Amino acid sequence: MKAPKDYIVFPLDVPDARQAMIYVSALKDHVGLFKVGLELFISQGPEILKAIREVAGRRVFLDLKLHDIPATVIRAFRAASAYQPEFVTVHCDEGDQILREVAENNLGNTKILAITVLTSLNARKLHALGYAQTYVDDLSALVLLKARMAREAGCQGVVCSGLEVARIKQEVGRDLIAVTPGIRPAWSVVDQDDQKRIVTPGQAVKNGADYVVIGRPIRDAKDPPQAARQVAEEIASALS
Ligand code: C5P
Repeated sequence: MKAPKDYIVFPLDVPDARQAMIYVSALKDHVGLFKVGLELFISQGPEILKAIREVAGRRVFLDLKLHDIPATVIRAFRAASAYQPEFVTVHCDEGDQILREVAENNLGNTKILAITVLTSLNARKLHALGYAQTYVDDLSALVLLKARMAREAGCQGVVCSGLEVARIKQEVGRDLIAVTPGIRPAWSVVDQDDQKRIVTPGQAVKNGADYVVIGRPIRDAKDPPQAARQVAEEIASALS
């Protein structure tokens, strides 16, 4: 059975292996997964995945947010999956063919998470990017369109905000894994930042999130393990 802490994904958004491993050692008993993003993977290379796995004893979430022409993304995905991460992320924005081809060429057991609409985007930004008014007025409709595309293509999950997850679970499918960043507990010390579509950990899980990505509220807390425990308690009470 999944424990409340297993819902927590901690992003290792730090510049080097030394700092990353300090967080891995401190948080390994308090979070479910560690996420390696572009900063750490580019600076440290694949060795960091091995180091985390050795200390934490579990597979890593490799958040590369792949976005390019299909042939390039497929080759990059294949190279990434050779490290056997739990998840690799691919953007939906090139269309359904890329997602389908990645899913068809996924020969290992890495799960593909499709990025729908980044939680740093809001209606104003969609308008500036030239999106149709329908989606500017109802951003969740755009998230839903991309989630449907990802599911039909054979992706195992999506990344969306905690605001859209209930509709995705209802209208696209309960078994589609929903990973939700943009998590801000009520007690969070993080105030003005780049995340726009935010919810609390309890709300995200109540809405159906399978994982909550929560970085700065834990990382910037005075006592990160205590902050992670507090998030897990909030998740436990949301589930009960
Ligand atoms: O909680 P915090 O805002 O610090 O989390 C930041 C992390 O969430 C980064 O690693 C970022 O890549 C990730 N993220 C994501 N998808 C989004 C928005 C943020 O994976 N749509």
